[in-house]
Amino acid sequence: MSTTVRSATEADVPAILDIYNEAILHSTATFDIEPQTLEERLQWFRETKHPHCVIVAEVEGGVVGWGCLRSFRARVAYRFTTEDSVYIHEDHRGRGIGALLLGELIGRAKKGGFHSVMAGMTEGNPASEALHRRFGFVEAGRDREVGYKFERWLDVVWMQLMLPPGA
Ligand SMILES: CC(C)(COP(=O)(O)OP(=O)(O)OC[C@H]1O[C@@H](n2cnc3c(N)ncnc32)[C@H](O)[C@@H]1OP(=O)(O)O)[C@@H](O)C(=O)NCCC(=O)NCCS
Repeated sequence: MSTTVRSATEADVPAILDIYNEAILHSTATFDIEPQTLEERLQWFRETKHPHCVIVAEVEGGVVGWGCLRSFRARVAYRFTTEDSVYIHEDHRGRGIGALLLGELIGRAKKGGFHSVMAGMTEGNPASEALHRRFGFVEAGRDREVGYKFERWLDVVWMQLMLPPGA
């Protein structure tokens, strides 16, 4: 089965929402707790503008995963730093689709003129850690017990990929 990676369109947002809401409800991968509405996800999509982006992975015409580059922090001096997110439908994990998406996001981050890519992951997410390590991300810090979900405190581990100038 071949997998296609492409820029997302508004028509992809319902599938992106389903994958994200599953993660909200059943994992600590995101610190959102309530499922999002389609309207909220559409607003996020419309607000994500170049050099930030939303991309999807498609298998047999269906969206099975998505990724994005977004603002790391709002203050202007952070503008050359971006943060990635990658979410794969639970039935399609462990088949290299996350790697396809993250590879594409890193390529777009280089083209977009970013200096580094940050990835914040909740402690105990070996798949996300392995995915990022594979592309050269290294641990850059840890925020201790900054999240509280499913009745427990959670650390956020930061990984970072420095991008060579002019790449
Ligand atoms: C994290 C996630 C995006 C990885 O995507 P994926 O398609 O399952 O990963 P891939 O098949 O591309 O594998 C990438 C690497 O992770 C490793 N990996 C995948 N699943 C793993 C697991 N459960 N435990 C340990 N390593 C794992 C793979 O072996 C591979 O490493 P390698 O290149 O060194 O062999 C996916 O599991 C997911 O969507 N999880 C839920 C949401 C989430 O946690 N998103 C990240 C938020 S920071």
